Amino acid sequence: MIRGILLIFLTLFFSVVSCKKTETVTAQINVDTVKVTYNNQIAPILAANCISCHKTGNTSGYVNLDSYINAKPFGINGNLYGCVQRLDGNVGMPIGAPKLDSLKLLLIKRWCLLKCPEN
Ligand code: HEC
Repeated sequence: MIRGILLIFLTLFFSVVSCKKTETVTAQINVDTVKVTYNNQIAPILAANCISCHKTGNTSGYVNLDSYINAKPFGINGNLYGCVQRLDGNVGMPIGAPKLDSLKLLLIKRWCLLKCPEN
């Protein structure tokens, strides 16, 4: 009886663990092959997490991220990724908030690797 319960518990435990693994791998594969563009994925991330401090009229650190033309140079020069990934030599962003989740970090990295396409 106890063995049966233990077996069910272990089966459930391992299926949860293996499910999690598959999800991570799938997200990784998608991000590595998907076309990431400013309009589709990057603008919404910046709007939700960065624009309040980085827009025309409030360009903290002389950084404006409120349009493609304004944001692209920071993708190209590496500082956009550097600051959200909190690399040495960059100021960690967003200031005063937790690090962006890993999917957003992967999307920003991929966008920079693709040389920051608009569409
Ligand atoms: C609460 C306000 C605030 C938010 C939100 C914010 N920033 Fe900043 N950011 C600043 C300030 C202030 C500076 C200047 C910091 C300094 O020079 O010490 C700065 C500087 C920067 C810089 C230049 C510094 C560097 O390391 O290259 C970049 C790039 C940057 N922010 C990107 C972002 C991004 C991307 C986000 C969203 C994920 C974001 N910021 C969110 C306030 C903010």
